Amino acid sequence: MNARANSGHRDQPSESGRAGGYDLLLDLAVGRDRRVGARAGLEAALREAVRDGRLAPGTLLPSSRTLARDLGLARNTVADAYGQLVAEGWLTARQGSGTRVAARQGVTAVPAAAAAPRGGGTEHGMVPDPVRLPYSLWPGSPDVSAFPRAAWSAAARRALTAAPSEAFGYSDPRGRPELREALAAYLARVRGVRVDPELLVICTGFVQAIGLLARVLYARGGRRIAVEELGFPDTRTLLRVSGLKTVPLALDADGARVDGLGDADAVLLTPAHQFPTGVPLSPERRTAVVDWARATGGLVIEDDYDGEFRYDRQPVGALQGLAPEHVVYAGTASKSLAPGLRLAWITVPPHLRDAVVREKRMADHHSPVIDQLTLAEFIGSGAHDRHVRRMRLRYRARRDRLVATLGERVPSVRVSGIAAGLHAVVELPPAAGPLDALVARARERGLALGDVDLLGAPESGTALVIGYATPPDHAFGGALDLLCEVLAEFCR
Ligand SMILES: Cc1ncc(COP(=O)(O)O)c(C=O)c1O
Repeated sequence: MNARANSGHRDQPSESGRAGGYDLLLDLAVGRDRRVGARAGLEAALREAVRDGRLAPGTLLPSSRTLARDLGLARNTVADAYGQLVAEGWLTARQGSGTRVAARQGVTAVPAAAAAPRGGGTEHGMVPDPVRLPYSLWPGSPDVSAFPRAAWSAAARRALTAAPSEAFGYSDPRGRPELREALAAYLARVRGVRVDPELLVICTGFVQAIGLLARVLYARGGRRIAVEELGFPDTRTLLRVSGLKTVPLALDADGARVDGLGDADAVLLTPAHQFPTGVPLSPERRTAVVDWARATGGLVIEDDYDGEFRYDRQPVGALQGLAPEHVVYAGTASKSLAPGLRLAWITVPPHLRDAVVREKRMADHHSPVIDQLTLAEFIGSGAHDRHVRRMRLRYRARRDRLVATLGERVPSVRVSGIAAGLHAVVELPPAAGPLDALVARARERGLALGDVDLLGAPESGTALVIGYATPPDHAFGGALDLLCEVLAEFCR
């Protein structure tokens, strides 16, 4: 039998003798065995917990009175077991500071997870570099050191104070109404999205959203989804594992060639700022894709992952605003705030709503409520706008500096794509050395660059995707210096 005791705490000596600590699962099977006896059973269970690392050195154990009460044993039984284990060196007891787990040599530690493979790149390229190097220009991340901690925690406090008790129960799979209302107003104001809060679904990141949509499409008979020929690799994987066939759309200076949509059932686009080439979808093609959707009943999924960040002009509004009944708009907090929040949202046309909500419910019932309420408060109070404005200035300055510095120090490379977002494509001259060797050289020098095959296509051998937003401010200059030095070595 296992007994759960409200047991020791590592940091808080208990003056009253009551353990204010956490639960500890002690295997008292032996203790219930009459042949062994309660005291021997408790000793064995404690030894085992220390040996396997569940009770770490220094952990404060509950007083004998508390543990005896929690386990239904006599106090003397516990006191005797403690005394025995002190004598054996498993525990230490000092007047006034309670009984603790001793710092023992040779105790088997909790097994460490297998080390992440060195050498960067994971299967999907966009997964953050598992090897921590002093500098990183790995694409896909905002500057997480600039997360607005104080404003976020103030919003969290206000949100928690105002939240009705029912908010802590199971909620609507679409997400909290407070956040859906705040987002509907924000997206209309900032991105020209037209949506009723009833048709918004809060998701655990865009990657969840695309999975839900893919399953809904498949269940409704959809089999082919067009995708830009270069893009975020995880998305394609998710579409494929849902049974859909991905049909590549060629890219040119006007964005995706939507004349290649043919008999696709749906299309996934990054119209504001193609990932990764950085070109926006031209006005003619925006109209063409909406016409295609109207004519065929095909679904357009608009991945507006970094729509808040345009530096050269006012951002172009979302495609969804042109045809809300045919376009699913998807936004995420991963670029504007932090990927660790895992908060994203989609607008769904009315005819898909119930199916999407059902999938969301099956996936995880709903996204975590406290973070949703905090984001609602963060947006409603104006803190989100302030943060985005501040980051826009910062990223714009970094992009300008990247372009100017490369122009000066490595004039043979070219930065392509519009001034927007968190990354830039750096095209290398035809005579440049091999890209994988360049990335490896950068790594040796302490700079993480995106994987060579990040773009998911052979042509990617001629360009790097530089995540200029990734490093903290103080490390940006150093990262840029290293980038220039390595590029200069390979692009003579
Ligand atoms: C183009 C694109 N869309 C979506 C995402 C993922 O967003 P989320 O973090 O919300 O899953 C990324 C992440 O890097 C991305 O590059």
